[in-house]
Amino acid sequence: MDFELKTLGLAEAAAQKCDALVVVVPEDFKGAADPLSRLVQDARKAGDFEPKPGKLLQAYRMPGVGAARVVFAGAGDGSGKRIQTAVQAAVTGLRMKSVKRLVICLPQGAGDDAVRAAVAATAEASYVYVATKSKPEGRELDRVTIAVAQDAGSLRTAFDSARGAANGIEMARELGNMPPNLATPTRLGEEARKLAKAHGFQCEVLGPKEVAKLGMGSFMAVARGSEEPLRFIVLRYQGAAASEAPVVLVGKGITFDSGGISIKPAGEMDEMKFDMGGAASVLGTFRALGDLRPALNVIGLIPSCENLPDGRAMKPGDVVTSMSGQTIEVLNTDAEGRLILCDALTYAEKFKPRAVIDVATLTGACMIALGGVRSGLFSTDDALAGALQQAGESAFDLCWRMPLDDEYGEGLKTNFADMANVAGRPGGAITAAKFLQRFAAKYPWAHLDIAGTAWKGGAAKGSTGRPVGLLVHYLLAQSKPESKTQAKAGAKVAKAGKPAARRKVAA
Ligand code: BES
Ligand code: MN
Ligand code: ZN
Repeated sequence: MDFELKTLGLAEAAAQKCDALVVVVPEDFKGAADPLSRLVQDARKAGDFEPKPGKLLQAYRMPGVGAARVVFAGAGDGSGKRIQTAVQAAVTGLRMKSVKRLVICLPQGAGDDAVRAAVAATAEASYVYVATKSKPEGRELDRVTIAVAQDAGSLRTAFDSARGAANGIEMARELGNMPPNLATPTRLGEEARKLAKAHGFQCEVLGPKEVAKLGMGSFMAVARGSEEPLRFIVLRYQGAAASEAPVVLVGKGITFDSGGISIKPAGEMDEMKFDMGGAASVLGTFRALGDLRPALNVIGLIPSCENLPDGRAMKPGDVVTSMSGQTIEVLNTDAEGRLILCDALTYAEKFKPRAVIDVATLTGACMIALGGVRSGLFSTDDALAGALQQAGESAFDLCWRMPLDDEYGEGLKTNFADMANVAGRPGGAITAAKFLQRFAAKYPWAHLDIAGTAWKGGAAKGSTGRPVGLLVHYLLAQSKPESKTQAKAGAKVAKAGKPAARRKVAA
């Protein structure tokens, strides 16, 4: 899908030849004397349209309007969040209606947030999975124009980052939704290679032999129960001098998690195809890097394998030696994510990174703690945590900081190894993070638990592409010296959204 940003007032938008026009209407909408404004004014007077977020008023073949369909979408107070709701409702309503060419008119004075929200919501609502359907239904939008009344120039940067993120999100969703018989570790390796070729990244895909040579005994133990060979993917984007320390992104790439010998119940087990959501988000973020080409260096690391039970599979009680040399007693083979990530975190040391961020569908406990709204954020570095939280707000891809007190790590003690791979049930997302922290001592580190946010279940079952938006916005913010306005915005979030103890973080 192609997005463009244009300066167009409502009168000019009415003259556009397109299949559908979405007019975003906040409560303080004034309008002028053009036909679209007049319809809003009349409908409000008659009590037929209240511009509450998500409320729609539809018109068909309006005289004086080039588009066959016009949707007026209420946007409440006109904030980014409300505009997101408005555009999502309008575009969802237009799906399956053979709309190829769409114009979205943002309200007078729309800012960066409004533009980002409109792009993100349009991309999200128009995505249709077709890869394994024999008769694909629904069609994709070809071209979307975001129309603003003022000079579009000042909104260009926000627009470009949102468009880049949207393409990355789409890629992550597509990979995440793919069935596990197709989206194997080998296939992820091929996708990484393809991406590298298209955008000029360096890419290495290691197999079982190379991984054994590196001494990744923990990662190898997880892969042992599967016929599919493991892959360890290394992607490098160089946008700055080679001497500049990179940001390393690590994505959990379990392409199917049966639980292994500690097998999961059958209900909803299919959803464990989404257990490579972290990997998909790293690949999607690289796709966005390829488009946006920010001035910084980024490394992507993806340990990928299946977690299956087999005669050779790891067993509860097995002790494995990680690449770091630390030994791990596997008490539950279903806590496999941390077992593959810990070796990737050790491997990350060789890049002398300025920050390492791992992304993983790691624990059901995180889903219980935060639901599907915010990803869990854990970090040993306050500045990094603040920057990630701020990026999440900008991208409408939220996260929430969780604690890492040492007491949470005590349950990992065992008599038979340096640590066990599970503690008790209480605080399960935190004890998982405490496990990872033992392998991330040599650099500023953050961990995003996306178990609740990487996909939706039920009727809307499917990958969300999160947290590509968050990661892209974070990386773009790192690529330039922080401007005054960004610093201010960061401070605002710190006040509004964080426990008092961490307030100084984002400044
Ligand atoms: N991939 C799962 C986490 C998961 C479960 C995400 C359900 C989303 C929904 C992970 O590998 C796992 O199985 N974690 C266990 C850990 C436990 C054994 C300590 C979990 O959360 O139950
Ligand atoms: Mn598991
Ligand atoms: Zn898993």
